Amino acid sequence: MSAPSTPNAASEFARGLAGIVAGRTAICSLDGDLRYRGYSIEPLALAGNFEEVAYLLLYGELPTAAELAAFSGRVNAAARSLDPAVTDALERLAVSAPHASPMDALRTGVSMLGQVEGDNLPGSREQLLAQAEKLLGQVPAVLAAWMDLSAGRRIGPWPEGSIAKALLERLTGHVPSKEHVAIFGTTLVLYAEHEFNASTFTARTVVSTGSDMHSGITAAIGALKGPLHGGANEKVLEVLTHIGSADRAEPWVHEQFAAKRVVMGFGHRVYKDGDVRAKLLGRMCREMVRGTAGEAIEDLAERVERLMLSAKSLKPNLDWPAARVYHALGLPVQVFTPIFVVARMSGWTAHIIEQIGDNRLIRPLSLYSGPQPRDYRPLATRG
Ligand SMILES: CC(C)(COP(=O)(O)OP(=O)(O)OC[C@H]1O[C@@H](n2cnc3c(N)ncnc32)[C@H](O)[C@@H]1OP(=O)(O)O)[C@@H](O)C(=O)NCCC(=O)NCCS
Repeated sequence: MSAPSTPNAASEFARGLAGIVAGRTAICSLDGDLRYRGYSIEPLALAGNFEEVAYLLLYGELPTAAELAAFSGRVNAAARSLDPAVTDALERLAVSAPHASPMDALRTGVSMLGQVEGDNLPGSREQLLAQAEKLLGQVPAVLAAWMDLSAGRRIGPWPEGSIAKALLERLTGHVPSKEHVAIFGTTLVLYAEHEFNASTFTARTVVSTGSDMHSGITAAIGALKGPLHGGANEKVLEVLTHIGSADRAEPWVHEQFAAKRVVMGFGHRVYKDGDVRAKLLGRMCREMVRGTAGEAIEDLAERVERLMLSAKSLKPNLDWPAARVYHALGLPVQVFTPIFVVARMSGWTAHIIEQIGDNRLIRPLSLYSGPQPRDYRPLATRG
């Protein structure tokens, strides 16, 4: 006799699914160290080539020079050819809601991209890969378009070059230095993928129902927006700006503990002994701002880190240095989480393709905690 397909009713559950293995993936492992498709994060991050990593996540292997050039060309072409139905709708939204979060614009934008493409059912693996490549180019272009439109400008042209270079140029309004493109590329690589985090799991859940890639990505953007997930990088800068200087760090940190508030940019569901990505980028950030006014923020950040470690044994996560890097690059705070979206598009689409390739509906059980069984009373008999 075969085993039942569902377990017996559970008497216990894991809050927030902590510690639960909810599926299998060949894309990323966090066991011991962070690896994308078997490659350690460090050399990938130091190379800082986001397109190379996106190709690796999607296709499973590092590209040859020719494969990378063709892939980058297709992504860049997608960034240059946003459907006017989408940009016209964004223009209308920018007039009526210019202060809307760019995260909302991205969520709406991806939903519209799916609608104009007629994306309704998952296609073949080749069709899904083509959709993923297109989204990799379209999403940063939608972000840049929204930033123009919400500031009352016409949409500027999408520049030549890598996503890191083109997006940085579009968001800051000037051609970035090689050093700035390099560290920005590193942040995209570090944000690209992270196994079964909340937004990726959301995307996989959506497509496990047989729904389409754009629906999965739209839902994932909604999940990433929250401050306990992607939204943390914007909150980090607000915190650092609010504290102001290193000498004010100690009373501020104690105030947070007394009020039982979480400190943004610290702690992690999986890494309990520090986030390797934060260590790597933290070092690079300090190096980048050496000898500039940015050193004051690094001193403050270091002070907060020491206090968090000694008081609560909590270490920074990636959002802690990423916020400082983006600030030092001259980026406005409201694009920090949208940049995370641009990067994570690679991981999300890879997971969606993996889920569709070996699908079973994701549908867990719950432990009922409501009223005992009771009888229905018709409306007329209720007081
Ligand atoms: C990421 C996060 C949601 C993980 O949550 P989690 O796995 O449920 O947290 P844990 O179970 O490890 O928390 C253990 C304890 O540390 C505390 N803690 C965790 N992160 C904390 C933080 N950033 N600041 C203060 N206290 C924190 C918890 O409140 C909990 O305290 P308690 O035992 O008194 O209730 C949480 O660390 C957090 O909210 N961090 C700030 C937001 C952030 O930076 N998010 C980006 C994540 S990459």
